[in-house]
Amino acid sequence: MLVNYCQGRKVLIENAMREFLAQIHAPSLAEILNQSMDYSLFAGGKRLRPILLMAAAEAVGTDGRIFLPCACALEMIHTYSLIHDDLPAMDNDDFRRGKPTNHKVYGESIAILAGDALLTGAFELIAKQPQVAPEVLLRVSGEIAQAAGSKGMIGGQVIDILFEQKQADLATLQEMHRGKTGALFCAAIRSGALLADATDLQLKALTEYAENLGLAFQITDDILDVTGTQENIGKPVGSDVKNMKSTYATLFSLTEARQHAKNAIDSAVESLAIFGESADVLRELVRQLLSRNH
Ligand code: IPE
Ligand code: IPE
Ligand code: MG
Ligand code: MG
Ligand code: MG
Repeated sequence: MLVNYCQGRKVLIENAMREFLAQIHAPSLAEILNQSMDYSLFAGGKRLRPILLMAAAEAVGTDGRIFLPCACALEMIHTYSLIHDDLPAMDNDDFRRGKPTNHKVYGESIAILAGDALLTGAFELIAKQPQVAPEVLLRVSGEIAQAAGSKGMIGGQVIDILFEQKQADLATLQEMHRGKTGALFCAAIRSGALLADATDLQLKALTEYAENLGLAFQITDDILDVTGTQENIGKPVGSDVKNMKSTYATLFSLTEARQHAKNAIDSAVESLAIFGESADVLRELVRQLLSRNH
């Protein structure tokens, strides 16, 4: 069952992250940085990006657990993005993963620096991924860097900020979601495939799957900002309204937004047609997005 699979993977990921974090911890004079990094990283979280990296490798026929360093690196990049996304200069949110946001506990300067350290530490970890040919690792780290940067997540975050207080049209929203959320999902899934030595055809199919999953994920995040409860989502409800963001829930009715998510989910599943049951986890993971409540 998918819930048990994800729970098992979460335990693996969290144990591995504890081990890896110990390797990148700062010297004792900067101990507050270590506490701040650990605080957000181990506050909870669905661990979807590392789970997807490993599941993509498994779709191609390789045990994804070999790639735990790269998988955990993605969770570190994602967690950094959340710490910065919550800052007063960004979305100015007080709760994340069910706890006060990093800057609320450690102050803005340490929160910014904890984000910086998680981002750079992630690449230190990727460089140490064993059992992978150097040229493959170089390609994977390049793709992850690009996805996290100005052409991907950061570019998307900038569009998000620019379209506060004015409504983005559908094309702009798609571009924003492709960047701020889709790019890292895409990097996770493509990395799993590349590390597992996927064929060009498999990589193409998994990329299409990832793009659609990323879009569906952010549409459902937009919907949950309206319909969710803080208890379930672990972050404030109505953050997008407060910041006058452009989202699928402001451009469309909730029914229409759900239909957009459903279409993307159907396309994601169709993209996996070349795979047999080795891709069942990926199929289930994307199908459950429509009913997610956190
Ligand atoms: C939240 O991501 C930020 C978005 C990209 C929408 P998640 O919903 O995956 O957050 P966690 O990791 O489970 O806390
Ligand atoms: C954040 O999007 C995307 C990134 C962190 C890159 P949101 O601002 O919608 O995410 P939440 O809703 O705060 O988790
Ligand atoms: Mg935001
Ligand atoms: Mg936010
Ligand atoms: Mg949101």
